[in-house]
Amino acid sequence: MSNSHILELENVMKIYKTGDIVFEALRGVSLVVESGQWVAIQGPSGSGKSTLLNLIGCLDRPTSGRILIEGVDVSKINDNKLAEIRGGKIGFIFQMYNLIPSLTVVENILLPTSFIKKLRKTDVKQRTEEIMKRLGISHLKDRFPSKLSGGETQRVTIARALINEPSLILADEPTGNLDTSTGSEIAKLFKDIHEQGETIILVTHDNEFARKAEKIYVLRDGELKTQGR
Ligand SMILES: Nc1ncnc2c1ncn2[C@@H]1O[C@H](COP(=O)(O)OP(=O)(O)O)[C@@H](O)[C@H]1O
Ligand SMILES: [Mg+2]
Repeated sequence: MSNSHILELENVMKIYKTGDIVFEALRGVSLVVESGQWVAIQGPSGSGKSTLLNLIGCLDRPTSGRILIEGVDVSKINDNKLAEIRGGKIGFIFQMYNLIPSLTVVENILLPTSFIKKLRKTDVKQRTEEIMKRLGISHLKDRFPSKLSGGETQRVTIARALINEPSLILADEPTGNLDTSTGSEIAKLFKDIHEQGETIILVTHDNEFARKAEKIYVLRDGELKTQGR
């Protein structure tokens, strides 16, 4: 395996069992993502996009197949190790903003750092300020999430995803709840983030947004295919 592969999926299957009902959500998905690459995943509702991101994000385990993050097979490791990889290597940006309502903007952004012991407080403070500045949210630092617009909230979510310098950014419909113009602002931010070297896997229904990525995949009935390019 080459070192530039941040992520490799080999024949990943996910089967959900609900009572007697067995559902094959992913049927043998293989994928390689290089360091610094931006990949978009599209596909109809129910095709398994969120399932796939949850597996890559170590929120769930595949039924079979392998998932390697920086060469480590996360399909086999124990829960503690999985949580460590999730906290240290993955930055999540979801459609549902899931900021913690009782924490201010800056406290929400800092939350993921509490899972990483090796970070120095002064470095974290400086880094937080840089990221807030970069995302144009410095002035919102002490606000609570209920007082933010949709676009502002999504910027905070992006800041929080970046704070631990993750290896991989996972975004599930990050513009799904936004109006068109706010959505295109967020899409521009993704382009900036990508240009600064982040590796991004983006799930989106927005074709224009997906086209900003270097490669587009389509998930249909649990199978992943490349689209053009
Ligand atoms: N926890 C679960 N238990 C049972 N079925 C699930 C679960 N999560 C998702 N599914 C099913 O798996 C399929 C894929 O879901 P999902 O990954 O959310 O699709 P998408 O994000 O593309 O809309 C859907 O049919 C959904 O109902
Ligand atoms: Mg989904």
